[in-house]
Amino acid sequence: MSPNRTILAIETSCDETSAALVKNGTDILHIETASSMRKHRKTGGIVPEVGARQQVHDIIPVIQSCLQDVSPHDIDAIAVTVGPGLIGSLVVGVETAKILSWAWQKPIIPVDHVVAHVYGAWLTDKAVPELPALGLVISGGHTEFVLIKNHGDVVFLGGTRDDAAGEAFDKTARLLGMPYPGGPEIEKASKEGNAEAVSLPLPLAYEKTSEMSFSGLKTAVRNHILSQNGNTYTADTAASFQKTVTEILSIKTHYTLENISGKPKSLILAGGVAANRYIADHFKKVFSDTLEVYVTPLMISVDNAAMIASYAHFNFHPEPIDHILPDPNYHARTVGTSKKINLT
Ligand code: KG4
Ligand code: ZN
Repeated sequence: MSPNRTILAIETSCDETSAALVKNGTDILHIETASSMRKHRKTGGIVPEVGARQQVHDIIPVIQSCLQDVSPHDIDAIAVTVGPGLIGSLVVGVETAKILSWAWQKPIIPVDHVVAHVYGAWLTDKAVPELPALGLVISGGHTEFVLIKNHGDVVFLGGTRDDAAGEAFDKTARLLGMPYPGGPEIEKASKEGNAEAVSLPLPLAYEKTSEMSFSGLKTAVRNHILSQNGNTYTADTAASFQKTVTEILSIKTHYTLENISGKPKSLILAGGVAANRYIADHFKKVFSDTLEVYVTPLMISVDNAAMIASYAHFNFHPEPIDHILPDPNYHARTVGTSKKINLT
């Protein structure tokens, strides 16, 4: 049993500015997230400097919101995303967290943003996931399998060789004339479409690896659109794309589960793309017979500070303040790259 703790967490790795107060890694006392999404709708994607400037504007208000009903005295530690992420954005959160840690004399814990996505599962209404847990993080920046053998013992099993799944959703949506972010738009359009209408490739899907590839899919959609001479039926293309991404993720999850010696007890689907109900329902249907399936809910699947606090609670390793630095390569350094592991 981990001790009682209330952690104030800060997340600014991409275009969100989020602060959260979380008790014992599982109970969200308060969360406030500001996004530069509206600005990025105009540019059709993230412009790093625009995002970082907005974060300078938003960081104090989101923290103030968390402190409405508590005083610094009630906070046991500060947690902050140090990487991976956009450097200008990371700097905003990291420096703010360091100042709070120094001013309030609280321990500070550096957090790996990608693994923190998996810890979103500790914030759901379900019982906490049993370990070992296989995490599939599907976000705009990352798509990969990580195995949480124990808290603090996380292994990278394979990731995308090119685009992340969310990036593929965003780029495909753009080809179909939909606004950013494309994931929710594709999901909405798919409801009216026939998922069997357009035949798309399954790059790397049947190769014996947990690695994935999504960029060829986007090219195949582009070629399909060009072949239609302006008569593309958007809903069918969106539905076929969504089904193909789901198929790739599902085939790769089967492969990864089969190739881990010693079986995980939980499967956790996390990251912005986990907000997709079609993908979530598929995973629950296909994998629930053999293990407990967790899908992080919408508020927790997209970038947020609550998952940062949860990670920090279960991986409570404060570091000296001058060791806390924004580091876009933090994830690669912390989880390593071994592909086949033994759980015993
Ligand atoms: O985890 P996240 O908020 O940010 C990163 O860490 O990257 O993920 C953002 C991604 C975007 O690519 C967005 O299009 C995708 O998540 N996304 C979705 C859905 N909602 C968000 N993709 C598919 N279906 C959705 N409903
Ligand atoms: Zn993320």
